[in-house]
Amino acid sequence: MQRVLVSAPAKVNLALRVGGPRPDGFHPLDTVFEALDIFDDVEVTPAPALSVSITGLGEDLPTDDTNLAMRAGRALLEYTRAASTHPAELGAHIRITKRIPVAGGMAGGSADAAATLLALNELWELGLGREELMRIGADLGSDVPFALVGGLAHGVGRGEELAPLHPNAMHAWVLLTRERGLSTPAVFRQFDAMHPDAGAPADTAALRRALEQGSVDDVGALLANDLQAPACQLRPEIGAEIGLIEEAGHRVVLSGSGPTIAVFTAPEQAEELAAQLRADFPYDIHVAYGPSAGAHIRAAE
Ligand code: C5P
Repeated sequence: MQRVLVSAPAKVNLALRVGGPRPDGFHPLDTVFEALDIFDDVEVTPAPALSVSITGLGEDLPTDDTNLAMRAGRALLEYTRAASTHPAELGAHIRITKRIPVAGGMAGGSADAAATLLALNELWELGLGREELMRIGADLGSDVPFALVGGLAHGVGRGEELAPLHPNAMHAWVLLTRERGLSTPAVFRQFDAMHPDAGAPADTAALRRALEQGSVDDVGALLANDLQAPACQLRPEIGAEIGLIEEAGHRVVLSGSGPTIAVFTAPEQAEELAAQLRADFPYDIHVAYGPSAGAHIRAAE
């Protein structure tokens, strides 16, 4: 195998309900993920050692051992060594083409890690199944398993325990992305400060029912994100903008831990809504559709 190319999707959370922190510091979640048709590409080629390069968005991101794709490569090596499925020294160059906004609450780093696991499994002919890759991915980041499966899914635990959902419609999102990202741990810390007595997360049963049986309006009415208020405390301009978009009659939710603002709409209205929002807000505004595929191989030769 000389080259494997994999694409992996961005996500939004239609609901992200958060509970008080567990003993390991992670927060129990009840969430609904949707994969969007914005993809990062990861191309892997044989090399004596592991290395990463990045083109597109995020060219200034680190490419050392802190890079999540690099960590994915190392985790896969360790896993195969421990299982003695592949004794030889393996390396690869991992080339990431980024389109998912960086530190935007859309799981771009997790997509790169998921794509790297799938691509290296193929390049190194390890023969690991998707379930095994999901287990390795869960140790790298809470959103990595979802990036491997894509579609629409209910997530519990820290977001890594997934069950597929079967929506009865396609959805469109108009995404307002900004250059300055938000730190996920900082937003969770702010949540803790605002909710010192938080118990179990609220549940998402009504939203899940609406996604499988209701209308797009029913779904829009049930969008919810418990990280929205903490993120808005850290960056008040986000709350002001969400308020303006809501006042104009649209359904809005912060994406993940932000700062991306996601406006939910029916696919046939998305382009017109994006044009309206572009006139009012000085941001990069993208239209994305979901649910889309999870990480998938596009070329292997
Ligand atoms: O799992 P991931 O690496 O994406 O998480 C980044 C950080 O976000 C964690 O280190 C933790 O501070 C916070 N987090 C959390 N509870 C979760 C997911 C993430 O507290 N369920």
